[in-house]
Amino acid sequence: MTTVKLSVNGKEMSAEVEGRTLLVEVLREKLGLTGTHVGCDTSQCGACTVHVDGKSIKSCSVLAMDVAGAEVTTIEGMANPDGSLSVIQAAFKEHHGLQCGFCTPGMVMTAAALLKENPKPTEGEVRAYLEGNICRCTGYHNIVKAILAASGQDVAAMAAE
Ligand code: FES
Ligand code: FES
Repeated sequence: MTTVKLSVNGKEMSAEVEGRTLLVEVLREKLGLTGTHVGCDTSQCGACTVHVDGKSIKSCSVLAMDVAGAEVTTIEGMANPDGSLSVIQAAFKEHHGLQCGFCTPGMVMTAAALLKENPKPTEGEVRAYLEGNICRCTGYHNIVKAILAASGQDVAAMAAE
């Protein structure tokens, strides 16, 4: 076992890990941050998406030891400092961008990474960026709408679904 130190949502944390321990296992099982979901374990669904040093990654595909010392942000770190929903989270709520909610943490993390890179994406750019995030419920339309709304664009003309 090795001790890995991480800054998670702005707090210094450490965990005992084995060489094979995945980042998502540290977050969920050792740090209790169960907002990061595991939907596949094979790097396909994106439910485990978090930010590591500002970039979105699938935390089921990264060894904890390989990100020692990194700054990690999970869905628990996405709310505003006063605990209210962030702009992206509020847009998902307002535009019905979730149903069961299983994919939502990963979707929000991916959306945040997209809007950081591209603050005013087109609908096509949003759809392309979400390629690595699977949702079994919504048909994606309202997720895309929520992300466009979060970017400050007028989505009133987009059809409701
Ligand atoms: Fe990581 Fe599905 S659990 S991509
Ligand atoms: Fe159910 Fe996306 S809201 S998987």
